[in-house]
Amino acid sequence: MRTSQVLSEHPASHSITLPQPNAINMGKMRAVVYEGPFKVSVQEVEKPKIQHPCDVIVRITTSCICGSDLHMYEGRTAAQPGIVFGHENMGIVDEVADGVTLLKKGDRVVMPFNVACGHCLNCEEGRSAFCTEVNPGFAGGAYGYVAMGPYSGGQAEYVRVPFADYNALKLPPGTEHEDDFALLADIFPTGWHGVELSGFRPGESVAVFGAGPVGLMAAYSAVLRGASEVYVVDRVPERLQKAKEIGAIPIDFSKGDPAEQIKKKRGGREVDRGVDAVGYQAVSADGNTEKPNIILEGLIAVVRPTGGLGIPGLYVPKDPGAPDSNSAKGYITFPFGKLFEKGLTVGTGQCNVKKYNRYLRDLIIAGRAKPSFVVSHNVGLDEAADAYTKFDKRIDGYTKVLLHP
Ligand SMILES: NC(=O)c1ccc[n+]([C@@H]2O[C@H](COP(=O)([O-])OP(=O)(O)OC[C@H]3O[C@@H](n4cnc5c(N)ncnc54)[C@H](O)[C@@H]3O)[C@@H](O)[C@H]2O)c1
Ligand SMILES: [Zn+2]
Ligand SMILES: [Zn+2]
Repeated sequence: MRTSQVLSEHPASHSITLPQPNAINMGKMRAVVYEGPFKVSVQEVEKPKIQHPCDVIVRITTSCICGSDLHMYEGRTAAQPGIVFGHENMGIVDEVADGVTLLKKGDRVVMPFNVACGHCLNCEEGRSAFCTEVNPGFAGGAYGYVAMGPYSGGQAEYVRVPFADYNALKLPPGTEHEDDFALLADIFPTGWHGVELSGFRPGESVAVFGAGPVGLMAAYSAVLRGASEVYVVDRVPERLQKAKEIGAIPIDFSKGDPAEQIKKKRGGREVDRGVDAVGYQAVSADGNTEKPNIILEGLIAVVRPTGGLGIPGLYVPKDPGAPDSNSAKGYITFPFGKLFEKGLTVGTGQCNVKKYNRYLRDLIIAGRAKPSFVVSHNVGLDEAADAYTKFDKRIDGYTKVLLHP
């Protein structure tokens, strides 16, 4: 196991983590398979094949574990055993079907977690997270995710990328910035999107709930975009420390109501914008009880009249492990009356990664953004089960884990 710190000092050390094609059996590969609540294992599964003229097959160099995977891992979604996890994927193009025009074998690419067609109304208007063609009956597709279509995940040696011209972003060749570019698949764009959804303008103040990878990326985006003040709420010390390192003000919600703590620091004033980077599995101050509405309540309390809320944190229409019968159906109770009184705007949903990834890539290349400060662990694919256990418990500083086949 190596830390991102070590990697950034010795970028060449990345070469030892790059996977080699499975020489023993070319038709099989290793992949992280969901076996049931709190259990994943690395198994031999079928290697993906070209299925359509617009496909490519990518040999994975890095695939990240996401907080979104934990909802499935904990049995808190309708995910059935057998799913190969992994929606944050990057690697090298290995096979190219005849209809692909922009990519060739050997190209280094990162894929948005969204699978999208590129042609439907939502795709044409830049809302690729709500593609209506790739997953009929549901708006949006993704790799390795329950209800998001038949697209196998990339916590594996290879992944199939449909509509590859649209769904793969080219990167400079080599191994430089591997950790930073891997975060372009989801959390860097998603954090940026959370700030965007809130209606943020430079100079404004922002409160971000959650200092997981998405919350830290939202806070980082707000800093990059010229926020005057950024507050980050969580109770995990290592995560609050990372928030502090990027110039945000950490707020420990185990020590008292976070909205009150923030207002107190501001002489009673609210903030302009709020971001929910926690979602439906939010917990109470002692960390022991789930309260699916606690973040929405906090945001409505802490944001000023006519301010805005960005809600990239996940909410689901069905939760098998919900603490009450209403939230089991996705009905979350929150003070709508206060929201109305304040005239707050609300933006929510999956991130349209494609809207941002090219520009965020260029910020990384130009040296103006280094999102990999959030990466705590780089491990081999075979260590996935242990990494899931620790990341799920948010212990030992497990903030963001990158898997290398
Ligand atoms: N919209 C999208 O496209 C998108 C993409 C990726 C992730 N997500 C969602 O974003 C959320 C965050 O993802 P992540 O990877 O950072 O997950 P994570 O689980 O690692 O982080 C969540 C953090 O919230 C903290 N938290 C819990 N209760 C809290 C409370 N009451 N107040 C403040 N903080 C609290 C936890 O301690 C944890 O650090 C998840 O719901 C995930 O599914 C959405
Ligand atoms: Zn993710
Ligand atoms: Zn589409």
